[in-house]
Amino acid sequence: MAKPLRIGMIGYGFMGRAHSNGYNRVANFFDLEYHPVLQAACARDAANAKAFADKWGYQSVETDWRKLVERKDIDAVDICTPNNLHKEIALAAAANGKMILCEKPLAMNAAEGEEMCRAVEKAKVLNTVWYNYRRVPAVTFAKQLIDSGKLGKIFHYRANFLQDWTISADLPQGGAALWRLDVAAAGSGVTGDLLAHCIDTAIWLNGGITTVNAMTETFIKERKHNLTGKVEKVGIDDACAFLARFENGSLATFESTRYARGHKALYTFEINGEHASIFWDLHDLHRLQYFDHRDQGTTRGWRSIHVTDGDHPYMGKWWVPGLAIGYEHSFVHQVADFLEGLAKGQPAGPTFRDALETQRVCDAVLASAQSGAWTNV
Ligand SMILES: NC(=O)c1ccc[n+]([C@@H]2O[C@H](COP(=O)([O-])OP(=O)(O)OC[C@H]3O[C@@H](n4cnc5c(N)ncnc54)[C@H](O)[C@@H]3O)[C@@H](O)[C@H]2O)c1
Repeated sequence: MAKPLRIGMIGYGFMGRAHSNGYNRVANFFDLEYHPVLQAACARDAANAKAFADKWGYQSVETDWRKLVERKDIDAVDICTPNNLHKEIALAAAANGKMILCEKPLAMNAAEGEEMCRAVEKAKVLNTVWYNYRRVPAVTFAKQLIDSGKLGKIFHYRANFLQDWTISADLPQGGAALWRLDVAAAGSGVTGDLLAHCIDTAIWLNGGITTVNAMTETFIKERKHNLTGKVEKVGIDDACAFLARFENGSLATFESTRYARGHKALYTFEINGEHASIFWDLHDLHRLQYFDHRDQGTTRGWRSIHVTDGDHPYMGKWWVPGLAIGYEHSFVHQVADFLEGLAKGQPAGPTFRDALETQRVCDAVLASAQSGAWTNV
């Protein structure tokens, strides 16, 4: 008999749906000791929360997250709210002895993140942050190649995350759909929203980042605020580019913007090592491009590896070799790894403490953009 892990979900937007899909699918494809039980969904609007709960299979509804985190029949709290609520909810959940699965970025800044780490460590509750791109099979495979030494010494790390959805000056800021443009809800712009993903992947694949030099820009300086109805200063970074040095001596460039016309979610990274290079693109997420200088000279070239074989990471759990899976499966994998970690008593990364490192890099990036100086993490 599978052991239940009773989930209390807070927020029913984009991530509320992505995680719920993960909870619903995981037991069909992975053999695990624990199975998620969708115990309660929480959102402020009762009718919307009920509709969400019915659609995804949650057994009950709460309209106040404080009640949800106190419920005795909840084992784990999943935080899928805007960033400004992560800390408060996590502290309350930890105080009530709940495991926590928190969306990224961990917090508004590293000081908040540190407080959250201390709370979960004091309460000794299992915790994770949903940096889901680690669990795209091609990205996990990149990690395996790097750890096996195939690339040799790493010289360069290059990452981009490009979008184009905030170019219009008529787009307001704030409120339900546009909290990402409101610094009070988001903490920062593309740095915390998009670069945080690139930084998490980079640290995971290539080790710690020591120092950064950044520039940011807010192209539209004022926007109407949906909550106040007034035109207000925009406090987020619309675009950010930074240089970085890693502990292993490699150099990096990172760029993110919501002003790259034509790009919707172009997350790419390339890593150049002494023997080999790899390149990954979210728009072609099941492929890993690989170049190995040790190949025979005349046929040496970039290989496009279709990461869909049974011995590729996670793929043995899905269909037959050659058939691709997609974005949503990265969340199924994160649930599976969390449940396996629970069974083994070993947390699946990134934990809050791991994600705090990304938060520290984000803070250093924003500080460097302000001062114009190289800034240590
Ligand atoms: N891992 C990823 O790839 C990824 C992708 C998108 C978003 N995110 C992160 O997920 C979080 C949520 O983003 P989203 O895109 O799902 O946003 P969203 O706007 O689609 O959903 C946010 C939800 O939070 C709810 N909410 C807001 N205040 C609340 C409160 N006081 N009590 C209860 N519910 C409340 C809203 O009603 C909504 O359902 C953010 O931290 C974001 O950075 C991560």
